[in-house]
Amino acid sequence: MNDTRGSARRAGASPVVLITGCSSGIGRAVALRAVRAGFTTVATARRPETLADLEAAGCLVRALDVTDDESRRKVVAELEERFGGVDALVNNAGYGELGPFEEVPLDRWDRQFQTNVFGPVALAQLVLPGMRARGHGRIVNVSSLAGKIVLPVGAAYHASKFALEAAMEGLWLEVQRFGVDVSLVLPGAVNTKWAANVPEQQEYASGAYGDLVAELAREMAKRLPRGASVEYASSVVMRALTDPRPRLRYPVGLDAKLLLPVSRLVPGRLWSAWVRSHFPSMRRTPARAVEPPVRDGARR
Ligand SMILES: NC(=O)c1ccc[n+]([C@@H]2O[C@H](COP(=O)([O-])OP(=O)(O)OC[C@H]3O[C@@H](n4cnc5c(N)ncnc54)[C@H](OP(=O)(O)O)[C@@H]3O)[C@@H](O)[C@H]2O)c1
Repeated sequence: MNDTRGSARRAGASPVVLITGCSSGIGRAVALRAVRAGFTTVATARRPETLADLEAAGCLVRALDVTDDESRRKVVAELEERFGGVDALVNNAGYGELGPFEEVPLDRWDRQFQTNVFGPVALAQLVLPGMRARGHGRIVNVSSLAGKIVLPVGAAYHASKFALEAAMEGLWLEVQRFGVDVSLVLPGAVNTKWAANVPEQQEYASGAYGDLVAELAREMAKRLPRGASVEYASSVVMRALTDPRPRLRYPVGLDAKLLLPVSRLVPGRLWSAWVRSHFPSMRRTPARAVEPPVRDGARR
């Protein structure tokens, strides 16, 4: 069956950009940049009342919870109906489920993946048929340096961003032949209210990993305010959106630029030694081999 989505698009119309997670931080700044640059900018958030000033700036604002299938379909269908499709999708919405691997309940792992992975994947699946039909499109994902390196007390967040990295790299390999480009923007620390949106961690404080949890909180309190500015991070997202020769990955900030090559080159033991220097309670108990029992008369 021929896919006719997008065929009603007016020639010369300003490209339609759909952005998730615009209530604050990077998403909000990208929406402002996009609307000022002349894009038809669709700024979305779970609570549309947070988007009043973006609406005043000229954005079209809509409610969109990236974990909600009905909400995703409704927004994309409206844009197809009204504008003939979505030219660019910015998957920005996300949060960090921080806590010890052993103690983060499985339903929280699930919510982390629903938001950071399955939401972006589902939105990409919804806009792709129209992009293929029109022979162009761009999907920019706000991933993270956390999708390339791993710190303690963040396994669920890291796993979700690693999964996003792999999923979107897979998509990139598949859709370039249709004129669709896919990019991943990898911020290191950015000075947003991301840390304030980390779900409650109190319950982990008294557990077996309480000392590590406290050390991570200290590291974040030290590093995030010194991180890259929202203005800079949003300018990199805009570059990914408008680059005439888009790259697959765009690091944001010195930490990301330095640590991305490290993630490829440094062996795991060396990495864990470096991380231990920042997390003293990661002290190492010497490993003990798991060996099969020695049977009578058997030689070892
Ligand atoms: N700040 C950093 O240091 C940093 C570093 C690397 C990567 N990142 C990534 O950058 C992206 C933006 O984060 P930020 O730093 O700008 O933090 P932020 O200010 O907390 O923004 C996160 C946005 O995601 C939204 N969101 C969360 N769950 C959602 C859902 N289910 N549906 C729709 N929107 C949802 C939030 O909306 P609500 O207001 O409704 O919660 C908020 O608008 C995230 O993907 C984050 O992982 C941030």
